[in-house]
Amino acid sequence: MAANGHTNGGVAKESRFDPNFTQNVINATGPKATPRFRKLISSLIKHVHDFARENELTVEEWMAAIDLVNEAGKMSDDKRNETQLLCDIIGLESLVDEITFKLAAETNDAATASAILGPFFRHDAPILENESSIVDNVPDGEITYMHGIVRDLVTKKPVEGAWIDVWQASTNGLYEQQDPDQKDCNLRGKFKSDANGHYGFYCIRPTPYPIPYDGAGGKLLTLLDRHPYRPAHIHVIVQKDGYKPITTQIFDKKSKYLEDDSVFAVKDSLVVDFTPLKGNPKAELELEYDLVIAPQGV
Ligand code: BEZ
Ligand code: FE
Repeated sequence: MAANGHTNGGVAKESRFDPNFTQNVINATGPKATPRFRKLISSLIKHVHDFARENELTVEEWMAAIDLVNEAGKMSDDKRNETQLLCDIIGLESLVDEITFKLAAETNDAATASAILGPFFRHDAPILENESSIVDNVPDGEITYMHGIVRDLVTKKPVEGAWIDVWQASTNGLYEQQDPDQKDCNLRGKFKSDANGHYGFYCIRPTPYPIPYDGAGGKLLTLLDRHPYRPAHIHVIVQKDGYKPITTQIFDKKSKYLEDDSVFAVKDSLVVDFTPLKGNPKAELELEYDLVIAPQGV
C-alpha cells in the first residue's frame, strides 16, 4: 500500500483521514441555498477534499496556492483579469466554453464553433460602417480584408442586422488597453450585417503573442515549465436577437503555436487561410469567413 493512501493492487483502502469530515462540511449548507448552488458547491467540496487527501496536501503547499490567487486578485481591475488568466492556463475557460457550447448546440453542431472570450474584450467598442478599418498606425501590419455572410443555421439564409464584434492584438503582441502607445479602441470594432447578411472590414493579419506573464499567470507558467504564447487569432462575437450568440476566435493556419496554445482554445474548424488579395489597393490579404448562427430554441 502506498504511503499516500492509494491502493496498489486495486483493493480499496480506507482513508486514514476522518471519513465523515467531507459529508459534515457538505451537510452544513443551509436550506436557503438554491438547488443549483447546493449541487455545485457539494461537488466542489467533494472534489477539493478528495484532491487534498489524495495528494496529502500540506499547509505550506495550500498557502502557496492561496498566495498565487491573492496576487492574481490584487492585480485584477477593469483592464486586467489575472484570475481568469490562471483559469485559462489550466484550461478551465476552454473546458467551460466547450461544455456551454455543447449544451447550447445539443441539436446542432453546424453553427460556427465557439472559443473562449479571454480577458481583453470591451463592451464599448466603436460601432463602425462595413468596409471601414479597425487599424490605426500599425506600420508593419499586413492589412487584411475580412468579410463573409452571417447565415441562419436552419434556413441557411443570410441574417440581416447581426452584430459582429471584433478585436485583435497589434503586431507588438499587445491589445490596445495594455499599450499606452495605441489609440483607444485600436484594432476593435462592431459591425452590423447588411440586408445580404454581408459584413466586411479591414484588420491586420494577426500575429502570435504571449499572454501576460508579468504576474501570477507568469509564475504559474514557470512552475508548469510552459511558454506563454497564443497562436495568431482574431476574436469575434456574433449576436442577433432571437439567435444564440457565439463567442469565437479565428486562427491563422500558418501560425506557430496552433498545436500548443497556452490557453488550449484552438479548434480545427476555426483555423483558416489568409489568401493574397488582388485588385484592392486597400489590403494585401483576404480572409473570407461565414458566420453561422442558430435560432434560439433550436
Ligand atoms: C486572448 O486571446 O486575448 C487571451 C485569452 C486567454 C488569456 C489571455 C489572452
Ligand atoms: Fe486574444
